[in-house]
Amino acid sequence: MVQILIEAPAVARRVAWLAGMVARDYAEASPVFVGVLNGAVQFMMDLIGRLPPELRQRLRYDFLSASSYRGETSTGEVAIRHAGSLDLAGQDVIVVDGIVDTGLTLARVLELLSKAGPRSLRTCVLLDKPSRRRRPVPVDYCGFAIEDRFVVGYGLDRDQQLRALPFVGVVAR
Ligand code: IMP
Ligand code: MG
Repeated sequence: MVQILIEAPAVARRVAWLAGMVARDYAEASPVFVGVLNGAVQFMMDLIGRLPPELRQRLRYDFLSASSYRGETSTGEVAIRHAGSLDLAGQDVIVVDGIVDTGLTLARVLELLSKAGPRSLRTCVLLDKPSRRRRPVPVDYCGFAIEDRFVVGYGLDRDQQLRALPFVGVVAR
């Protein structure tokens, strides 16, 4: 049984709000969005879909693959399997993930991407569990700060299941 934590319309409203902030901050820029597979896909495409047409014309996007989780516990080791294929040197990069939890994944991704020499590097997450942080990581755009509960849906999985739910939920035990 999955209990709804954030209804789909509330997620959509917040995504539109985030898109407004990004549109304002990148009004003069041509950003490159880098999504962390697989959890960021739904969020990133919805976010990009809410940006104004002029910005959608200029922006580029890519994905990289990182994983640290088995079931509901972080292994503490972050494996980058595919690092993306766009050249980020001199670019304004926005890393997008569905959730930041311990911060290990985002910290590792930022470390990797900064080596490419971007002009700027920011982060955008739909969900943040600040109480779980093990590595400090800058969160520039955040949809919702949530308490320490394992969430699923809207791209987030539990062992690859429940990703496709349209809302953010918690698995009742
Ligand atoms: P971190 O490295 O601990 O910050 O976790 C980041 C990654 O762990 C995310 O990209 C998710 O794939 C996964 N994750 C963390 N918390 C959750 C959760 O509550 N539900 C589903 N996946 C999660
Ligand atoms: Mg996962």
